[in-house]
Amino acid sequence: MTPRLDSLRDAVALSPQNIPLLLIFGQACLDELNFDEARAAFNRVLQNDPANVQAKLGIAGALYLSGNTSEAVVRAEALVQADPSFAEAWILLTRLAMAESDQTLAAENYQKALKLKPSLRDPVLEREIGFEWPETSTDGAVPDAESETWESAEEFDAGPNEVADLERPEISFASVGGMEEIKEEIRMKIIYPLENRALFKAYGKKPGGGVLLYGPPGCGKTLISKATAGEIQANFISVGIHQILDLYVGNSEKNLHQLFQLARDNAPAILFFDEVDALAADRKDFRESAIRTVINQFLAEMDGNIGSNEGILILGATNAPWHLDAAFRRPGRFDRVIFVPPPDEPAREAIIEILARDKPLQRLDAKTLAKRTKEFSGADLRSIFDIATERALSRAMKVGRVVPLTTDDLLQACKSMKPSTRAWFESAKNYALYANQGGFYDDVLTFLGIRK
Ligand SMILES: Nc1ncnc2c1ncn2[C@@H]1O[C@H](COP(=O)(O)OP(=O)(O)OP(=O)(O)O)[C@@H](O)[C@H]1O
Ligand SMILES: [Mg+2]
Repeated sequence: MTPRLDSLRDAVALSPQNIPLLLIFGQACLDELNFDEARAAFNRVLQNDPANVQAKLGIAGALYLSGNTSEAVVRAEALVQADPSFAEAWILLTRLAMAESDQTLAAENYQKALKLKPSLRDPVLEREIGFEWPETSTDGAVPDAESETWESAEEFDAGPNEVADLERPEISFASVGGMEEIKEEIRMKIIYPLENRALFKAYGKKPGGGVLLYGPPGCGKTLISKATAGEIQANFISVGIHQILDLYVGNSEKNLHQLFQLARDNAPAILFFDEVDALAADRKDFRESAIRTVINQFLAEMDGNIGSNEGILILGATNAPWHLDAAFRRPGRFDRVIFVPPPDEPAREAIIEILARDKPLQRLDAKTLAKRTKEFSGADLRSIFDIATERALSRAMKVGRVVPLTTDDLLQACKSMKPSTRAWFESAKNYALYANQGGFYDDVLTFLGIRK
């Protein structure tokens, strides 16, 4: 799936008995939550080296990540029984204790691990355990304050509020013009399942997973997400992925974890990730490794391996879905994808009516305006209102009283603007025609009239 995993897989195919390579490959598979392949790799190591504890730990880890806690416990305990100084196994036992909600045991196991190997310190895990490091402890088990794992402790403590806003939106679907099919899709995929959890369970449908909205800029992705929260009176937590990546380099995955926790603590909540395409694994920039870590954290959080995602709805939005790592689109993740097109004529009319609310307007001719604004996005329409309002305002200042905005002002403003959605379709069309992964962009092709 990712270049790294693929090249490792190729290398393993060439030297299938190479134990160090198999271990690296197994671990990489675990990082990608590819449990079956991970187990197969570790088993192959054990065929050649039956005493290999790394491979045994890997198998226990795969069992833990795939939810088979009890078997994982048995295996991890066997490892520390054989060798009580196996720090990594104590870390796994810490996670397993947390999985079984035994915080006390988790804290004990965690302390054992750190005594043996301070570099294993893991702030995310500590948070989860509620582990308080004794302030005065200087027995060497505390990592150096400058060490990388803990250096940004203060920033980390600054909490997720700096990367996210928690709000309870007052807008509902009524504030969103047009988008009728999308509203219906959101009702079917998000609202009804949440309102009828028991019913959906009875049919074996699991809650969770996420919905990805994609399309040209300014066409209502953010607006409809917020309105969805308002519609069901849920909390809305909006996160820009770029913010997560930029704010605290090296702490991104902790920030991400805190955000999911924030949502869990405030369920029902909509966790809205804007610019998800920033999580592209193939990016070649200085943040590449940070991005990799965040992706893994994101996937694990989304899969509900770290905490229950019951009552949390995950929405993502992007203008560039083609950059998004394919791992995000697996079942249980962003497995539902919705194309948000520019508004058609009736939708533009509805948006214009909404934008005209609370404006001093004289006999608005929304129909004509909608006709004259082909290819305009909702945001473009809003700009038209802004420009026209400015004109009316300067007239008002001249005469010293409120002068109503006229349809003519709006039509004039249209002329000075170019629709902003066209450029997006030029890129999208190429992806849709030449890289239409399993019909991912069919809606774009239908919209462009290329496909029926
Ligand atoms: N369907 C709509 N109804 C009412 N207003 C709309 C609609 N679509 C867009 N707008 C207006 O345009 C603004 C921008 O829309 P929004 O931020 O939701 O677009 P977006 O698809 O998230 O864009 P981007 O991809 O740039 O993030 C909204 O705040 C709203 O004022
Ligand atoms: Mg947006």
